[in-house]
Amino acid sequence: MTNDAKAAPATREYSGLRRLEYSLPSSWYFDPCQYALELERVWYRNWIYLCRADTIAAPSSFRTFRIGTQPILVLRDEADTLRAFYNTCRHRGSMLCNEPAGRLAGNRITCPYHAWTYRLSGELAAIPTGGRPHHIPIGETALYPIALSEWHGFVYINLSQSSCRFGDNFNANLQTLANWPLSELRGGHRQTMRLHCNWKIFWENYNECLHCPTVHPGLSNLVPIYRRGIMEPHDDPNWRAHAAATTPAYQGGLRAGAATWSVDGRSLGHEFPALTDEERRIGYHYVTNLPSHYLVAHVDHVRSSRLLPLGPDETELEIEWLFPTASLQDPAVDIRKACDFSAQVMAEDAAACENNQRGLRSAPHAHGMLMPEEYDVFHLHEWLRAQLAAAG
Ligand code: FES
Ligand SMILES: [Fe+2]
Repeated sequence: MTNDAKAAPATREYSGLRRLEYSLPSSWYFDPCQYALELERVWYRNWIYLCRADTIAAPSSFRTFRIGTQPILVLRDEADTLRAFYNTCRHRGSMLCNEPAGRLAGNRITCPYHAWTYRLSGELAAIPTGGRPHHIPIGETALYPIALSEWHGFVYINLSQSSCRFGDNFNANLQTLANWPLSELRGGHRQTMRLHCNWKIFWENYNECLHCPTVHPGLSNLVPIYRRGIMEPHDDPNWRAHAAATTPAYQGGLRAGAATWSVDGRSLGHEFPALTDEERRIGYHYVTNLPSHYLVAHVDHVRSSRLLPLGPDETELEIEWLFPTASLQDPAVDIRKACDFSAQVMAEDAAACENNQRGLRSAPHAHGMLMPEEYDVFHLHEWLRAQLAAAG
């Protein structure tokens, strides 16, 4: 349901597809070979969002993740620097940390198998069973490092050595959310879901609102243009005829009287002070960074959603609701009003995605077809094809 206008309204034309386009081959959503190719060409090459930096706040704290088949360890060292490593011991390859999060005792990472220990810098500290064998080259004992980058408090890693530039896959200018104090936001709630669908199914669903009238009655009530099955005014071939209409059903934005995505549409308070009138009127602003991350910014909170592939038909979705500190400290603010509303929307999307996955196994269904309103699904497919075609 992206609405990050890619061009100024005055220069916009009808957004919809003008000819029939087919969707990707059905087998791409469950074939292990296709999945392996996408891991190599997409997930192991791009900058992948993992978590907010403040979820690994104290020195020696860590979190673990899995991207496809790759186990990842992110920790904060004694100098307050975030570091990422493959979660793999240099001895015989055991997983180092098995918990999703925790604290490393004594500023050391200790392998649970034969107890090799590593400093938080990744250097080997000690081998408990006798001295370090003289035949081990010193350069082969440190943990395998991974490139890490922090963007406004969002921690990204890149498994590639010849990595693409950070920000290459943001769908909009990085300035889109310039008026939101992203670095200062703090997590108020986090939810992790395991979706029984291929990762592309999730993004396809995200990139169209044809499903909104049937799947999201509550959201379609809050955002009237979604009730029309479109994301923004230029998705309507007759948009010129409605250009003068002032109602949100034709111009986008929240229903009259609503200020944010919450169960009653009311603002939680402590709104971001630098927003423009237009940013407040629209009430929801998307920034997407394929293949792992998107943000939706509202007047009083920001929602961050992160996707990681776990298998051909298994995907982890983690949602973080971010708030200004003032809201989290104010006993009069009930952040559940925001969390509950979008958690319901996400649950509706999750059910639709899983149902989509189940139907794709039908032998005669070689591929689907796209409606004009599904232009961003087509753009997603074009992006994927370009990624797969790129030389390694
Ligand atoms: S595999 Fe880690 S110490 Fe042996
Ligand atoms: Fe949806």
